[in-house]
Amino acid sequence: MRVRRRLLVANWKMTRTPAAAAALARALVAMARPAEVDLAIAPSFPALDRVGAALSGTGIALAAQDVYVEKEGAFTGEVSASMLKDAGVALVLVGHSERRLLRGEREPDFARKMERLTEEGLAPLYCVGETRAERDAGRTADVLRNQLAALDGFSAPPPGLTFAYEPVWAIGTGLAATPRMVGDVHALLRAGIAVRFGPSIAASTRILYGGSVSPGNAPGLFAEAEVDGGLVGGASLVAKDVAALLAAAAAPTTGAARA
Ligand code: 13P
Repeated sequence: MRVRRRLLVANWKMTRTPAAAAALARALVAMARPAEVDLAIAPSFPALDRVGAALSGTGIALAAQDVYVEKEGAFTGEVSASMLKDAGVALVLVGHSERRLLRGEREPDFARKMERLTEEGLAPLYCVGETRAERDAGRTADVLRNQLAALDGFSAPPPGLTFAYEPVWAIGTGLAATPRMVGDVHALLRAGIAVRFGPSIAASTRILYGGSVSPGNAPGLFAEAEVDGGLVGGASLVAKDVAALLAAAAAPTTGAARA
């Protein structure tokens, strides 16, 4: 049996109105799902309530795409961890590359976000990954080390902490990283977690892969023992593709599909 249960997280980004998101959530609820894979859905903030209602009692977790660094107050347009908790959210993305690139958020912001989540008992899904230029310059390991520094202030990991390795060049491009690249980076990340928090926490921490995951490449990616699931954008908007990804995640790891 696998040490870590696999997890598929659907990141719906800024797509789908609340009505359309609720309809898609109901379609996912209606389909058969393998018992051995966890599923979470991250719709936009305004859709949390309706998607949450559709997921209630189904075992599919509600996730959010972001959280603000402060607890409460005069921060127009922002959403706090306590608001997300009240909405039924269990898991929250932190550090997505789209926020790093488009909003200029950096490790100190992610550290504060993870603190807020920890205060409310919400699990962070911390996203890391290098750009094409960083990979080409051989800097991937350095970049990941710097991104892990968001955890410097934590003597123990935030409860429920999960990682997503999302190479920026693979997101939304159709060019997923190869299983070998992903397996290698996940092993590197796990070693970094072990240095920080010890080997047993490293061994039980889930590391997801994200970036152009599709029904076509998922069997190869999920054949890697180091890959504990996926953080999926485009394919997560199509119910039959989600079914295919869940089936791929439920298959035993072989390591044989390395490419
Ligand atoms: P795609 O699956 O569309 O490449 O998006 C990946 C992603 O950014 C998920 O957070």
